[in-house]
Amino acid sequence: MHRQRIRHPRFWDRVVSAEEAASLIKDGMVIGMSGFTRAGEAKAVPMALAERAKTDPLKITLMTGASLGNDLDKTLADAHVLARRIPFQADPGLRKAINNGEVMFVDQHLSETVEQLRTQQIPAIDIAVIEAVAITEEGGIIPTTSVGNSASFAILAKKVIVEINLSQSDTLEGLHDIYIPSRRPTRQPIPVVSPESRVGFPFIPIDPDKIAAIVVTQKLDSSSTILPPDDDTRAIAGHLADFLGNEVRKGRLTNELQPLQAGIGTIANAVMHGFIDTPFHNLKMYSEVLQDSTFDLFDAEKLDFASGSSITLSQPKYQQVIADMGQYKHKLILRPQEISNHPEVIRRLGLICINTALEFDIYGNINSTHVGGTHMMNGIGGSGDFARNGHMSVFVTKSIAKGGNISSIVPMVSHVDHTEHDVDIVITETGLADLRGLAPRERAQTIIANCAHPSYRDDLADYYRRACGRGGHTPHLIEEAFSWHAAFRTHGSMKSDT
Ligand code: COA
Repeated sequence: MHRQRIRHPRFWDRVVSAEEAASLIKDGMVIGMSGFTRAGEAKAVPMALAERAKTDPLKITLMTGASLGNDLDKTLADAHVLARRIPFQADPGLRKAINNGEVMFVDQHLSETVEQLRTQQIPAIDIAVIEAVAITEEGGIIPTTSVGNSASFAILAKKVIVEINLSQSDTLEGLHDIYIPSRRPTRQPIPVVSPESRVGFPFIPIDPDKIAAIVVTQKLDSSSTILPPDDDTRAIAGHLADFLGNEVRKGRLTNELQPLQAGIGTIANAVMHGFIDTPFHNLKMYSEVLQDSTFDLFDAEKLDFASGSSITLSQPKYQQVIADMGQYKHKLILRPQEISNHPEVIRRLGLICINTALEFDIYGNINSTHVGGTHMMNGIGGSGDFARNGHMSVFVTKSIAKGGNISSIVPMVSHVDHTEHDVDIVITETGLADLRGLAPRERAQTIIANCAHPSYRDDLADYYRRACGRGGHTPHLIEEAFSWHAAFRTHGSMKSDT
């Protein structure tokens, strides 16, 4: 069967075992692998590499599109293979190795990695390992459920290993649109003018002589870990729908809205799911990860088109989507992440961007990455690409975490990913604060009144009132600003009465 997927006989003798392919990877190399939020990652070669490291220790720099599935980040971290990891991860095991200082993690805006590679600002890729549905007669690589950084990795690498995954449906062929921007400073505008724009090839065009090995695999993507909507996420979705409805009534948007982007995780997926019960229609997405909610919106006939860089689904949704791919295919495009997340395109299309915060402060600065200001959660991902350049930048979170012992609204965020300048709307289950056109003192009042959990609202108001007593454009009690985080660290709760 794999010969139908490797469409020119000259490649057939390049098929080797995963172990043989992994033996091309040497200590100190920079490896670029496919994979974006648990979708379309190379699977067999990294597993073989981790196995080999047990008897033949080696360290590599690993770049991907985003996070990997099949516990690969954990397996590689446990095998002590990772010296450096770029640009995103979401694995508890790797997170531990990052936070104990073993793995150097470079947390990057997802649109930027290949720009830096192309201009040799970060070390060049020695070997790219790319999962594919097929290799065309000319040697073009047809990716699977994600594009991520795979195209530029393969184009820029010295050698390429292709994993032909027979479990990935060949109906995925034709979804991809591979466009590589020309070199700067003479780059032409990127010709994406709508989510539907097809501007590139349906495969990754590379010099076929660079394909050093082909490995045939069968392992499926692992399913997403998102939880179903709950009362809080339904309330957040409701506040967003009311707000957008009001924008429509004021004539600033129509019921078709503007193309939507939604971040990763349970909350963003649930918020998108909430669009099913709104009057909005003929929606379009220009996003990064297409989660279950994208297909729920297609099925509810709310969504007309979705452009992304990966498809990451729960197990039942994956089976349904693959079986019905014929009905979805003409409404989908998967692009390289530098195009799905490109500031030029995001600004041009006027996206409504919905991303998730771990915490935000009374002035609207957002922390999406560092628990307690120090411990990496996942990474900034694409949230910064979208938040800075969108038409409207919305951040959502639940108002409390860890059983109410953490307030997600704090006097000062312990780490800043998105500054107040990039944040227009913040929403928790308790309400929404529209920060557009407001100065810091006005922002603080609306955030505390609308978004703080009732059990923390008075303490935030008290902090703000005392800070105003000292004056300032952005009033703070500097010596007290992180006392809430310190209280959680020392006695397990931010509550003032504990
Ligand atoms: N302080 C400490 N921990 C907090 C917290 C806070 N203020 N708020 C939430 N958490 C914890 C939760 O308790 C949960 O912990 P657990 O895994 O031990 O249960 C964890 O953070 C995830 O929170 P959850 O409420 O389940 O949200 P989520 O699945 O929607 O993920 C982010 C939220 C912020 C971690 C996730 O969206 C993310 O990594 N974002 C950054 C990257 C990004 O936005 N990419 C998309 C761009 S397209």
